[in-house]
Amino acid sequence: MGVGEAAVRLFSETSQALVDSAVYLDYNATTPVDPRVVASLVPYLSTHFGNPSSAHLYGRQPHTALVRARAQVAALIGASPEEILFTGSGSEADATAIRGVVTAATRSGLGHPHVITQVTEHPAVLAACAYAQVHHGAEVTVLGVDAQGLVDPQDLLAALRPETVLVSIMHANNETGVLQPVAELLRITGEHGALFHTDAAQSVGKIPVDVTELGVDLLTLVGHKIYAPKGIAALYVRHGVGLDPLISGGGQEGGYRAGTENVPYAVALGTAAQLAAADLSAGEPARLEGLRDRLHRELQQRLPHRVHLNNGLGVPRLPQTLNISIAGTSGHAVLAGCPQLAASTGSACHAGTHQPSPVLSAMGFAQEHVLAALRLTLGRWTTTTDIVIAAEAIAHAVRGQSNSNT
Ligand SMILES: Cc1ncc(COP(=O)(O)O)c(C=O)c1O
Repeated sequence: MGVGEAAVRLFSETSQALVDSAVYLDYNATTPVDPRVVASLVPYLSTHFGNPSSAHLYGRQPHTALVRARAQVAALIGASPEEILFTGSGSEADATAIRGVVTAATRSGLGHPHVITQVTEHPAVLAACAYAQVHHGAEVTVLGVDAQGLVDPQDLLAALRPETVLVSIMHANNETGVLQPVAELLRITGEHGALFHTDAAQSVGKIPVDVTELGVDLLTLVGHKIYAPKGIAALYVRHGVGLDPLISGGGQEGGYRAGTENVPYAVALGTAAQLAAADLSAGEPARLEGLRDRLHRELQQRLPHRVHLNNGLGVPRLPQTLNISIAGTSGHAVLAGCPQLAASTGSACHAGTHQPSPVLSAMGFAQEHVLAALRLTLGRWTTTTDIVIAAEAIAHAVRGQSNSNT
């Protein structure tokens, strides 16, 4: 069987696996690995096992594959291949951007570099800023958001200082899908001469993202959000941006990240990037947006006046993300009542208690509303049938919950 045939067989196996078990509406948490991605990486675990830095025969194929993968990732976001740095996770890419800029600034003599971020960032960004504060002497400002989850550009303007070296504000939020006004935030940042990093883990591959059009200096993208495996990501570093490595050693990745490259996973990310580009041209965002809005409508029809949208209408947002609160329910109890659906809630369970999502809380929603939230996220294998099954399962679980409350 050729690689192409194997990929087709695996592709149907993946969708079959999703059909046979629970309906998967948790694509923002992680995506299934596309079988075409699996097929592309396997030869680099076996036949082409060599070190891409080796000058001999065994190094050649891995080296060529790495070059190709870098170009594929670059093409998805309009970058040059030399501007793509492979990392082991999105968290590492975020930390490299934030801590790398701060330590480079400190090394060049700035006593207390200032970093600005905002409250609904992924913990990877918030923790990297906190680390820079504690260990590298940085000062950090965390901006608030409005009821739609958006940063006010005037707040950014007021927070900028002569010592501000970096602004890190995400492109799309992982819980709500809301898109920050990055173009406007960038314009303000640029006028102050600071660098701009955006965590685009959730937007790259879902909507067109072009680093030149956006004008960002640093951008994070993540493999396991675009049908590649977990454990591979990339940081776009614009030509000329000064960054210290988190890990030094053998000088791989242009000196930004030491360690023999993970060629199979880089190949996987390259293939995933190429497939994502094809999806974008084929209208996948519109298909997902249609299914997402259908899911919203199906829920509204089954549960009249109870379904509240948490990622506001009229605000730019990702096509595949629906975040709702169903009045009078607990998100955890609803999902527990529909085991045939895999989705997320607006809270995390710590030591047996449910902590409300900091993202929805920062938007000003009351705790009860946040604890009632469901995050339903769609992707490549989501079908109309999934949407109808999910809406029916949720409505059934809500009715069950309401009855047991009375
Ligand atoms: C917005 C955002 N940034 C960063 C990350 C972290 O990526 P990783 O899990 O690869 O560290 C995630 C993953 O959930 C994310 O959604």
